[in-house]
Amino acid sequence: MHIILLGPPGAGKGTQAKSMSESLGIVHISSGDLLRDHQVRGTELGNTARSYMQQGLLVPDELIIGMIEERIRLPDAQVGYVLDGFPRTVEQAQALEKALEDQGEAIDRVVNISVSEEELVLRLGGRWICRQCQRPYHEVNSAPRKQGVCDDCGGDLYQREDDVPEAVSRRIKVFAEQTAPLIRYYREKGNLVGVDGEGSIEAVRESLLSAVA
Ligand code: AP5
Repeated sequence: MHIILLGPPGAGKGTQAKSMSESLGIVHISSGDLLRDHQVRGTELGNTARSYMQQGLLVPDELIIGMIEERIRLPDAQVGYVLDGFPRTVEQAQALEKALEDQGEAIDRVVNISVSEEELVLRLGGRWICRQCQRPYHEVNSAPRKQGVCDDCGGDLYQREDDVPEAVSRRIKVFAEQTAPLIRYYREKGNLVGVDGEGSIEAVRESLLSAVA
């Protein structure tokens, strides 16, 4: 199964992709996590991506597409995957289709998670992420049992440098201008489903699982 989660920054893509992948027995592939991993490893891609990410801008298509094509060809991804944060432009969507076609596969479902801008700002302002397993927490909505420590793996929690107010508003604007056109793109292809992302994490999880069943 090949699923795409679309939605603005803070919509809950990472939170939901992690639990969906566990429920469905498929792999969670997050373009943002892959880029942050490149930064930690100090690769050329990571170093180039850093300034775009800090400013809340998209990393150029030619860098992202190669990174994702390489990831989806790995053996663990052959059982299927949920893509979180990719594609973000029509060019990326077309490249993904082509890569899947080459493997005799296709996208099964695209789920667009909608959340108001006011709620997105509250969520990103209170987000903490595990440095080790990337699980996202929120200081009010989904706090860890012990402050600063991941419930799942015991890793340290940190705040992302692009969760500062200026970068958050840029990311929301960039989503509206460059990624929202994908909603129409996939609607016209007939595989788009919309989910209200404003309920509790559990309620949104149920809606998502029904949307891909
Ligand atoms: P990326 O890492 O993909 O970030 P994003 O899309 O901005 O999304 P986020 O990770 O911020 O939010 P999310 O939707 O995953 O929300 P989460 O589940 O954490 O991209 C970062 C940067 O990398 C981009 O700006 C760009 O520079 C670059 N990049 C990445 N992919 C790219 C691409 N394809 N092309 C070009 N550039 C690319 O939840 C947020 C918070 O809300 C958490 O605290 C969570 O606990 C809480 N929460 C979640 N759900 C709920 C709920 N239902 N109720 C209450 N709280 C909730």
